[in-house]
Amino acid sequence: MSDPLFAELAAEFEARHGRPPLGFWSAPGRVNLIGEHTDYNRGFVLPFAIDRRAVVALGPAAPDAQGVARVSSTFSDEIVEIALADLAPAALDGWSAYPLGVAWALAERAAAASETEVPAATSTLPGFALHIHSAVPIGAGLSSSAAIECATAVALNEFWQLGLTPTELARIGQIAENQAVGAPTGIMDQSASMLGRTDAAVFLDCRSMSTESVPLGLAAEDLEILVIDTRVSHDHATGGYAARRASCEFAAATMGVGSLRDLTPADLPRMQERLDDETFRRARHVITENDRVEETVRRLESDGPRSIGDLLDASHVSMRDDFEISVPELDLAVATAQANGAIGARMTGGGFGGSALALVPRAQRPALEARILERFRELSFRQPDLFVVHPSAGATMKGHVDD
Ligand code: GLA
Repeated sequence: MSDPLFAELAAEFEARHGRPPLGFWSAPGRVNLIGEHTDYNRGFVLPFAIDRRAVVALGPAAPDAQGVARVSSTFSDEIVEIALADLAPAALDGWSAYPLGVAWALAERAAAASETEVPAATSTLPGFALHIHSAVPIGAGLSSSAAIECATAVALNEFWQLGLTPTELARIGQIAENQAVGAPTGIMDQSASMLGRTDAAVFLDCRSMSTESVPLGLAAEDLEILVIDTRVSHDHATGGYAARRASCEFAAATMGVGSLRDLTPADLPRMQERLDDETFRRARHVITENDRVEETVRRLESDGPRSIGDLLDASHVSMRDDFEISVPELDLAVATAQANGAIGARMTGGGFGGSALALVPRAQRPALEARILERFRELSFRQPDLFVVHPSAGATMKGHVDD
């Protein structure tokens, strides 16, 4: 075992679960380059996996605890134990709802498959012990929850020999998030975490679920992506996120289509006549954002990352004014980046807090960082966390297992 983190986690696992783990699996957080609140409208997104990951150590349940799931983590002293047979969304809460929600969704999936393929699969699913560590900051809008869900999903997929594909495991993570955690989110975060590639973004069509890896070529252009975590906390299980989703669904129903993906900018005049002003602006964000994602992919492929700045900027304006999910701290981060050398900048993720991203030439980054800290101080905002992220590989499908 070469990785010092693995050695540390193995010791922690043993201290909490009484014997060494079988192996280690990991999955990253994500930053969305562009395409916000388009996933649940069956549109386009362009996120990338980041170089901050959740790692899980997993092993079989103790001999006297067959059929039991037992989870621990480095961010809580609590150890949660539940019989696999008792797993259900209503039985889960707190941080353990993420890994145990995944275990539940996978067990359901195995049970459904067993009716047609493998007889009695669930009754024979072995219990397990799991220990979680995560380097994805919590509450920063970088999908720390998807990282935990996906790391758990790849670990159990291998341990239970389910043979599910990365796309199927992304869907399992989303089911856990929607039903066990109770956040009505789309498929973007888990897809980025499962499918990310080094120095590339994941172009995902959330209607057909087809994906394409789009090279970003940041290093070759001496560009970096700076994340500005405003430390304004948000929660998608309550409030604004669900309200935005409901507005989008209402707009689609009023226009007589299955989802906003079925409408284009050419439909906007007709929509303005039929919808109230607020609903119209919500829908206009989604429809124009889908266009911006496609245009970003075209430009990345033909002219490279220096050509996408105005699309990032326009995406932010649309979220600020039409979708109304920005906050003053995010607007300040974006405006300061734009005025201090960034090629483009926008808030990223679900909104109401969390992080902004700035696409910035490497040489300009230190001055930009200093200016952002200064402006936040001047306005008496909480000091933001600033860090560079590198587009990285997605979840490990095969664990690091000692022989
Ligand atoms: C959150 C959700 C995603 C997506 C974004 C907004 O990150 O988890 O599914 O809807 O917000 O683009």
